[in-house]
Amino acid sequence: SNLRQKCKWRIARTQWKQMEHSFVTIWFFSRGSFILIPYYKIVSFSVRVVLQRFVKDLFYRRLLVWLCREHLDHITSVGPRPVGSRENEVQTVNYLLAQIESIREATAAGHHSISVDVQRPTGSFSIDFLGGFTSYYDKVTNIAVKLEPQGGAKHLMLANCHFDSVANSPGASDDAVSCAVMLEVLRALVNLSTPLLHGVVFLFNGAEENVLQASHGFITQHPWASQIRAFINLEAAGVGGKEVVFQTGPENPWLVQAYVHAAKHPFASVVGQEVFQSGVIPSDTDFRIYRDFGNIPGIDLAFIENGFIYHTKYDTPDRILTDSIQRAGDNIFAVLRHLAMSEKLADSSEYRHGNMVFFDLLGVFMVAYPARVGTIINYMAAMATFLYLGKKCSLPSSGGGRYARELFCATGLAVLSWFVTLLSVLIVALLVTLMGKSMFWYNHFYMSVCLYGSASVGKMIFIHTLAKNLYYGVSLADLFFDVSLLLWCCALLYLTQRGLCSAYSDVANCQLPLLPLQCFSSGSSSKYCILYLLGLALPYVHFMFLIWVVFEIFTPILGRSGTEIPPDVVLASLITLGTIFLFSYLLHFIYLAKSTKWILTGLGTIFMVMLILVSCGLFFPYSADPTAPRPKRIFVQHTTRILHRLDGTVEKRDSGLWINSFDYTGMRFVTPHVPEINDTVRTKCHEDLPFCGFPWFLPVKFLVKKNWYLPAPEVTPKSPLEFKLLSRDNTEWGTTKLSFEVKGPSHMSLYLMPHSGARLSGWSFGNGTPQFDLEGEYFIFYSHGLDAPAWNFWFEIQVNPYPSGPEGMISVAIASHYFFGEDQKTPELNRILKRFPAWAFPSSWVSTYHLYRY
Ligand SMILES: *[C@@H]1O[C@H](CO)[C@@H](O)[C@H](O)[C@H]1NC(C)=O
Ligand SMILES: *[C@@H]1O[C@H](CO)[C@@H](O)[C@H](O)[C@H]1NC(C)=O
Repeated sequence: SNLRQKCKWRIARTQWKQMEHSFVTIWFFSRGSFILIPYYKIVSFSVRVVLQRFVKDLFYRRLLVWLCREHLDHITSVGPRPVGSRENEVQTVNYLLAQIESIREATAAGHHSISVDVQRPTGSFSIDFLGGFTSYYDKVTNIAVKLEPQGGAKHLMLANCHFDSVANSPGASDDAVSCAVMLEVLRALVNLSTPLLHGVVFLFNGAEENVLQASHGFITQHPWASQIRAFINLEAAGVGGKEVVFQTGPENPWLVQAYVHAAKHPFASVVGQEVFQSGVIPSDTDFRIYRDFGNIPGIDLAFIENGFIYHTKYDTPDRILTDSIQRAGDNIFAVLRHLAMSEKLADSSEYRHGNMVFFDLLGVFMVAYPARVGTIINYMAAMATFLYLGKKCSLPSSGGGRYARELFCATGLAVLSWFVTLLSVLIVALLVTLMGKSMFWYNHFYMSVCLYGSASVGKMIFIHTLAKNLYYGVSLADLFFDVSLLLWCCALLYLTQRGLCSAYSDVANCQLPLLPLQCFSSGSSSKYCILYLLGLALPYVHFMFLIWVVFEIFTPILGRSGTEIPPDVVLASLITLGTIFLFSYLLHFIYLAKSTKWILTGLGTIFMVMLILVSCGLFFPYSADPTAPRPKRIFVQHTTRILHRLDGTVEKRDSGLWINSFDYTGMRFVTPHVPEINDTVRTKCHEDLPFCGFPWFLPVKFLVKKNWYLPAPEVTPKSPLEFKLLSRDNTEWGTTKLSFEVKGPSHMSLYLMPHSGARLSGWSFGNGTPQFDLEGEYFIFYSHGLDAPAWNFWFEIQVNPYPSGPEGMISVAIASHYFFGEDQKTPELNRILKRFPAWAFPSSWVSTYHLYRY
């Protein structure tokens, strides 16, 4: 106990000295990094302004943005542009063609020539997105514009945007703004004084929201497609803000280098790419089509901010800042010009191999290096850390052994503290969910940080305070610093081993704090304190930036992730992970601090107050505030269902308003406003009918399981669906081939459900091999442009020697969707829509569902 007394005294003395550092550090992290981001913004903005003053094309660039806005206003002024509507197929197409023609005339004397081709492809393909489904399109529209040097070009670059929109949304950000920018980039490129080396195809595609159809038509059928070597795809997963590089590749590091080299305002991280490609974000872009069906590498750019209003009526041009357009234009122009001048485009197979590690530092500049170099750096960083730790472990006499043991225990403790913290925060999240208050943070994001953040920080500090009181050693602070190093290094090794480029973000965490450490422990504190802070600041600020991006993307997605995944659990886990990351190098300060009582009391108070406020229902998830809308996404279809027996007679016929909620709260908040939509009209999946017996527009029945079906009169569209069995033949190879003809509106879905004992063995879609979904059913998505002929298709079905039940071998259901025009709405639909509260966004249309058995 004498020794213990002595130790306590020594700690008390050194504590004062070190507390100074810790205060400065904590201040720096809590305030400094928040100050740093705006600071960097100011610096980069002023640099840009100064540069622009001296750049001679300043006036021209301003003009560009002004014209872009004009295009954007024009394209969106016609309203929603679903495939097959006159707005999409005629008005928008005519506007774009007129603009392209005027650019062509104005620049006829220049070094480049422009040729325009309007393509109306028909085709079919299967992809494994959303559990796997098949698509069939007929006469959708592509406007392809080829810009090439006067002598022609052998190799082409592709720039892709789409001008169609989902039903009921003006689609300004998704994706009219990209088409507007592309028009002006075309104008700027064609007027360049030095001729380009290669050509550029600008593809304005008119069917992306119908799940990537027009791009498929272009890349598989257009005569120019074979000359295309790389592409840039412009998309939106939000409204406005910066456009981020979602993904690049596959492989082809020279594309990333081109972006790094040319982009004026880079915003990209390989972490984002790897997260997106892991499939946790439920959306997809034309990138997939070009990669999988065209075998072409490319860059996928998307606007990500404010995803709350993506695909809603709030996606209007006035919400897109001029600055966003300018940024996007600058970047795309520069990257396209760079690529069209690049030697590497001509022989891209030469430069195909390898991945790149890339990231931007606060949007000011990009860092990029080959993944192979990254692996070496990672292993070197890990080795340096292990050397540092190994040196400590091999101290003479028993010191080293004791240190190793302590390090091992402390690491165990740190990992344990993570799990306990995660578990407790998840319990809080479940509690909030059970109280019926989930998504309280949807409109007040910082409230979730207060609740779950205070819970996780508090829990972590609490566990380590307990450990400190139980296990009182001399060098615990140093020890926990080493623990953080060790854990980061293990993470680094793991990620590197898995071949993930995201490991780069660990290197800094693993190495930079180490650099000044040796000096730090050897005295002369103030100088080293600064070094120490600098060592930590860089990874911290970069990390906070990444974490910000993660929340920017995932919070809105939780508003459309279906009724099955509890969003509070997801968000609470993300916040806890963020806390664990950010907290790792602050851990040892707990062991330096005299007492954590006040901090714990503070955090406990915040937590309790928040919990009470949340349970009182103070925070309403949605908002109709026009400056920052947070709409609740609902689908309302007025539908009529007709089910036929095997002999063709009608078995059942009913009609109603079929309502889907796209988030976890279901209709709980809507019922007080529209009392008929309550749990007495909840409907469940009819397992014996294809796709639950309802007209799903997308195959998402596994995500959206809560549905309401309110009885309503029958719908009578002016152009009803006509469904005909053309022929039924037994083939030589023992299958039955059924051929059909369908006439109907621009959007239809076909669902096939072979009965037990029967199997689909072939069909007229995709590559001929039937593609089933997660539950063994088949979903075929159909859409057509104008003047499409009737839809003919066939499939072959094979029955086991012993035929199945009495109901035949297969159920075939077909749904029609009236997304525009006079057939889109009915009086009942209009009446109920008026009664929805302002914060709800019910996207609505008329549909039918017909079932036949064979
Ligand atoms: C192309 O450049 C010329 C001369 O710089 C200019 O007069 C002309 O207006 C430009 N054309 C377009 C379409 O911007
Ligand atoms: C629930 O809905 C049904 C059918 O729409 C309606 O008849 C009933 O009155 C509703 N219940 C309440 C409490 O509003």
